[in-house]
Amino acid sequence: MKQPEIVMVGGGMIAHDQILPSLYQLQRLGRIGPITVCAQHHRTVRALAENEMIGKAFPGHSFRPLPGPDAGSTPQPELYKDAIAALPPRQIVIAAVPDQLHHEVIMTALRHDQHVLAVKPLVLSLQEAREIENQARARKLLVGVEYHKRFDDRSLLARRRYRAGMFGEFKLGTARLMEKWYYRHSNFQNWFTCENTDSFTYIGCHYTDLVHFVTGLLPVSVSVYGIKDKFPNGNEGYLYTDARVIWNNGACLNVQNSLSFPDEGPGSNTQGITMYFSDGARGAWLDHSDQYRGLRYCYTQRPDSPGATTFSEPSTEYFQYLESPSGGLQPAGYGYRSVEAIIAAIQRVEAAPEAERAALLTEIDHLGIIATPANSSYNEAVTEAARLSILNGGREAVIEAGSVRLR
Ligand SMILES: NC(=O)c1ccc[n+]([C@@H]2O[C@H](COP(=O)([O-])OP(=O)(O)OC[C@H]3O[C@@H](n4cnc5c(N)ncnc54)[C@H](O)[C@@H]3O)[C@@H](O)[C@H]2O)c1
Repeated sequence: MKQPEIVMVGGGMIAHDQILPSLYQLQRLGRIGPITVCAQHHRTVRALAENEMIGKAFPGHSFRPLPGPDAGSTPQPELYKDAIAALPPRQIVIAAVPDQLHHEVIMTALRHDQHVLAVKPLVLSLQEAREIENQARARKLLVGVEYHKRFDDRSLLARRRYRAGMFGEFKLGTARLMEKWYYRHSNFQNWFTCENTDSFTYIGCHYTDLVHFVTGLLPVSVSVYGIKDKFPNGNEGYLYTDARVIWNNGACLNVQNSLSFPDEGPGSNTQGITMYFSDGARGAWLDHSDQYRGLRYCYTQRPDSPGATTFSEPSTEYFQYLESPSGGLQPAGYGYRSVEAIIAAIQRVEAAPEAERAALLTEIDHLGIIATPANSSYNEAVTEAARLSILNGGREAVIEAGSVRLR
């Protein structure tokens, strides 16, 4: 598999902000072959294909859009199945659709013998995660879950130093990720409602994943207090949440999330984590501001992208376009590195002799740098427990013997 073909299902925000430009960079480097992007409507893929910034960064690069230009306006929710079925076996399918559709897209890909890169979260229940894990193992395919914060240098540094014993043992932590208020005016108001999701389920998962990534600890119980608020269209959502996650050494992580950071605030959101540790005799501490990376700009005019402000604190770390010595622009940041790492791991599996693939996949699971269904299903357990808790007024939900129940 020298240059795998790619089918990306979904052409929305994450496809535009991170995945497609990362794929084009890999194509530019000769690492991957042709790309197909499949959405439900032609207008979605056309907008992505015509995006000015992506076009400027990658002159000469393009993808095959599905549905094609002759498609009518009727949505085509099943078209991705044909696109996957038409791929030769053991290529790569990318699931970049809304959370509740991940399971179906991933299982379709696996049944057609395709490797998968899935944007987070993998799926919404433990049972679905297990089904994916079993199917992938049986076919010796890799499913990589794109938790890109893992590829932020600071996460990798914290992991290495924690595991070298420099911090002692994790005891207490507090994390926050608040998205801007304007999200309430977006399509979110149609689906981000109390019965479907909440602020913790949507964005808190990054920090529970990171605590495991750094410490290796596993969550054993979750309680989530949610505050309901109304969207402009009158729908109600848990737009503020406060979650408490207890770990298997008794440590406690508090995670606050919301769609409430002021639109005039100087970044695309506010986020970070503080962790307190002990070796029994001394305390230790780690503090990451994940939004403010030390840059402060004030422009002459407000840029016209959503949530942009004249005073700004841009993050250089997630995804930026930088001028390239060979022309065009090249992506930089952990958003690119994360996609690159998963695709490189898939290529390693394919390059291995058949008889060695199962062992290599197990090694990738055990290394734990790339999230896979086998090594990160605690995320699905936390999601299941969080939903049970918030819908029961914040009661504690415990994760025990691979299932979730109210205490
Ligand atoms: N920080 C992160 O890791 C991060 C950030 C944003 C989004 N995400 C995840 O990415 C996923 C997509 O989110 P988004 O913000 O891009 O959403 P979006 O609504 O902007 O895009 C979703 C896309 O899926 C397409 N789609 C829906 N049903 C489809 C179908 N049946 N066939 C083909 N395409 C279909 C839509 O047309 C749209 O292009 C979600 O799972 C979300 O949680 C992750």
